[in-house]
Amino acid sequence: MTAIHILGFGAYTPERRMSNDELTRLVDTSDEWIVSRSGIRARHVLADGEQNSDAGTKAALQALEHANISPESITHVLTATCTPDYLCCPSTACIISSNLGIHGEMAFDISAACSGFIYGLDLAKGILSHSPDANILLVATEALTRRINWQDRGTSVLFGDGAGAMILGAGSSTGKAQLIDSKCRADGAQHLLLTVGGGSNHRYEPGDAVQPDFYIQMQGREVFKVAVRSLTAICREILSRNELEVGDIDLFIPHQANLRIIEAVGSRLAMPHDRIFVNVDEHGNTSAASIPLALREAWELGRIQPGMKVLLSTFGGGFTWGAALLQF
Ligand SMILES: CC(C)(COP(=O)(O)OP(=O)(O)OC[C@H]1O[C@@H](n2cnc3c(N)ncnc32)[C@H](O)[C@@H]1OP(=O)(O)O)[C@@H](O)C(=O)NCCC(=O)NCCS
Repeated sequence: MTAIHILGFGAYTPERRMSNDELTRLVDTSDEWIVSRSGIRARHVLADGEQNSDAGTKAALQALEHANISPESITHVLTATCTPDYLCCPSTACIISSNLGIHGEMAFDISAACSGFIYGLDLAKGILSHSPDANILLVATEALTRRINWQDRGTSVLFGDGAGAMILGAGSSTGKAQLIDSKCRADGAQHLLLTVGGGSNHRYEPGDAVQPDFYIQMQGREVFKVAVRSLTAICREILSRNELEVGDIDLFIPHQANLRIIEAVGSRLAMPHDRIFVNVDEHGNTSAASIPLALREAWELGRIQPGMKVLLSTFGGGFTWGAALLQF
């Protein structure tokens, strides 16, 4: 089996920070409600004129520097996002390629909502298995605040903007870590529980106002239950097929959607608190970007050291979910 190396990873957080108190000026809510229901204290927001692809490009630049690799060496650009610059085309991956001067073999977007980054890892594994000379830039970037209806207090308090990126390669190169395994799942039966619309299911004439489904819409309570169940199951599955126990995991980086979801999954897995990385308090839910953002932050804080096994897991709209195991 081809060894998949993680050559470098990066992240980008927009400068503008919006606290819960600031949000209470836009929507009928309170810091106390948001913190107790989600653990979120702030989120970051793209500046006017700053695009989702700009955020992704900044994260990619940090990943390239971390990998000590030039953009010209990149053969594939995969971008996980549910808030692309353009809904249909060009892909955000093509725009990021252009920003970086990459003229590779493939550039395309992955639409798997919050699971896009783990889906991207699994796809990268497949590409590298048949093209071991490829160098893959996987970017996960989101501009979710552009799709927030600030009057909807059930969703507007939960999401933020951000980006993360990773460079993957195969062969004899030694990287920062190895991707030991990844596993993805999907089930569309409940796809209407979490939507971000604006697609071709409405006919728009020039000048029409957008329909309500243009914005994030969610049945939070139902999503919560499925998320806890699916995240727990996929973690158990990936551990079991690698003959690992929870005790073998040095750091667990779950999707940063909500502290209560993270705690519920942690307790079902019997994962010690000090092995679970949490930064949802500072970023809110940044969808596909959440895991690579948390990974870079954990690494910068010294929470990841050589020799460690790191478990990633995610859940998102669709529904989609997945997990990955990294060996540092
Ligand atoms: C969204 C979520 C935080 C709501 O928490 P909840 O405990 O389920 O709350 P409910 O939606 O049942 O609402 C409870 C009450 O709070 C109110 N409420 C909702 N949002 C509020 C807000 N931002 N501020 C204040 N009150 C709010 C509701 O109107 C309701 O009031 P009522 O009882 O008078 O009708 C929670 O369901 C959740 O985290 N779901 C998962 C969301 C998620 O992570 N999705 C992404 C997955 S990738």
